[in-house]
Amino acid sequence: MKRIVIANWKMNPQTADEAISLFRGIKKSASSATKVKTIICCPFVYIPNLARHAKGTKMSIGAQDVFWETSGSYTGEISTLMLKNIGVSFVILGHSERRALGETNEDIRKKVHSAAAENMQVILCVGERERDDHGEYLSFIREEVESALSGLQADLLEKIIVAYEPIWAIGKTDDDALSPSGMHEMSLYIRKLIAQLYDRDIADKVSIVYGGSAEPNNVQLLLDGGDIDGFLVGHASLETDDFGKILQVVNNCK
Ligand code: 13P
Repeated sequence: MKRIVIANWKMNPQTADEAISLFRGIKKSASSATKVKTIICCPFVYIPNLARHAKGTKMSIGAQDVFWETSGSYTGEISTLMLKNIGVSFVILGHSERRALGETNEDIRKKVHSAAAENMQVILCVGERERDDHGEYLSFIREEVESALSGLQADLLEKIIVAYEPIWAIGKTDDDALSPSGMHEMSLYIRKLIAQLYDRDIADKVSIVYGGSAEPNNVQLLLDGGDIDGFLVGHASLETDDFGKILQVVNNCK
């Protein structure tokens, strides 16, 4: 397996000093988790500073969004090239919290296609709001995956990490996360969707991570039974100890 742990700090912390001290704490654990690709997705304003602190480490800095145009009159937006120029190599796209603010599947499709074409690694988030007994949530996931990826050149699929984050599991406790068997099913399903759009070989190579109350207490089971390559971690990534434990578990898994 590939081993990937992504921190999504969301709109935290509130000061640059706090961001640096959190980063420094994580850096210690990340340096001993030598088999894990650790990616810190922080707010835009902290990126230049943290990118300097990340120099000479295996850690990467990621952003939490990017616009699809390359330059021009788009007040408030940030381009892929701008991010690359300050040392960003990963970007989260389609997070449910951005979708909730009005981002559509079409917006996400444009962002995914332009970021991947410009050589950025994309962490594409998909996930349903709730589960139903009739499998409607599977159609929802299908729509999110297909609309984001369809038409993307096959050779750009290596730029995509799919993060499955069921919205109902986000921001809760370790008990509320998806079960390992639920994750296993979803990994198979996402790979099937990608195989239908491309082929089995490409689908097998795409990394899939889980997000939604990933915590030190549940990551081992999810890794053992979930058919995943790692995690997208929200609240536990703001706690140096918790995040360090997650890195350790992923590093030590077989
Ligand atoms: P939590 O780990 O806080 O549930 O957040 C998950 C998430 O949204 C990461 O992108």
